Amino acid sequence: MNFSMIRPDDWHLHLRDGAALSAVLAHTAQRFGRAVVMPNLKPPITTVAAAGAYRDRILAARPIGSRFEPLMTLYLTEGMNAEEIGRAKACGFVHGVKYYPAGATTNSDAGVTGLERAYEALEALEAHDLPLLVHGESTDPAVDVFDRESIFIDRVLIPVRERFPLLRIVFEHVTTREAVDFVRSAGPRVAATITPQHLLLNRNALFQGGIRPHYYCLPVLKREQHRTALVEAAISGSPQFFLGTDSAPHARHTKETTCGCAGIYSAHAGIELYAEAFDRAGALSQLEGFASMHGADFYRLPRNTDLITLARESWSPPQSYSFGEHELVPFRAGEMIAWKLLEDTTR
Ligand code: NCD
Ligand code: ZN
Ligand code: ZN
Repeated sequence: MNFSMIRPDDWHLHLRDGAALSAVLAHTAQRFGRAVVMPNLKPPITTVAAAGAYRDRILAARPIGSRFEPLMTLYLTEGMNAEEIGRAKACGFVHGVKYYPAGATTNSDAGVTGLERAYEALEALEAHDLPLLVHGESTDPAVDVFDRESIFIDRVLIPVRERFPLLRIVFEHVTTREAVDFVRSAGPRVAATITPQHLLLNRNALFQGGIRPHYYCLPVLKREQHRTALVEAAISGSPQFFLGTDSAPHARHTKETTCGCAGIYSAHAGIELYAEAFDRAGALSQLEGFASMHGADFYRLPRNTDLITLARESWSPPQSYSFGEHELVPFRAGEMIAWKLLEDTTR
């Protein structure tokens, strides 16, 4: 069976830089028209000038003939001023500012320790109607790792919404029923991205016959009841939920080690994995809204107009891809994926 849909966009993606960027970009460009590119490089992308230079490097790394469009973001820092946000709005290629609680995830050391230290930037975001993108996990070491998202809602998101009621927020990579309920009750200025791994797996996957570093990402996989809440949200047709793979490449040796990095690489099957999840839920007809419409509408960008076609045909990703001098282990390496992109549809 074939299934055609408006070309999707990826509203949460890590492309890295240099040789890593060159290794991964084609996977995204084959499937997606645009992607929101996360700014957590070393050093992070904290200025419009740096975002512009990074955008140029991404454009230069595209496959020949590709019209893939990177949508750039800034990394929120303490004391970021209103002028920088004004420049971000004016430049036309920055589409959001990303808030990483300091220490919450990969390359978040330069993030924000207390959000009140970034209120000038938040006021400017609200005034310019530029979205705040949020890695929503509490960094309080006393909080259980599986409760970090729900505690973050109470301690940070609810107060921020009260103080900045017009601020538009994307709650990135939501993983819990509590997050889904919060987004629904917050109304149309708040939206959320959902990853393929959080739709397909629960936390048992981390310990299937032994410890599985390639299923480790942040926020960490949760219980089955949370996975089903995410599937319900994704297939609901609500414009508040849309696709964000959070494809986060890390070299094999940095994951298969005593202190492994967080991040799952899924760009090689970035739409196919969602097709599998939606099909399993009997809701393939809802995929196009989630993948190709809701995100563009929230970011106030035009929807894509060209199509891609998927086939219900199993295939198996390789054990690894080359990743500069290193190797990259993709999601489902050596296992089956139930849906296939019909041809190379690089835009
Ligand atoms: C991301 C990365 O590797 O940059 N890792 C992850 O586990 N999701 C960072 C992030 O999105 O939090
Ligand atoms: Zn994150
Ligand atoms: Zn991410």
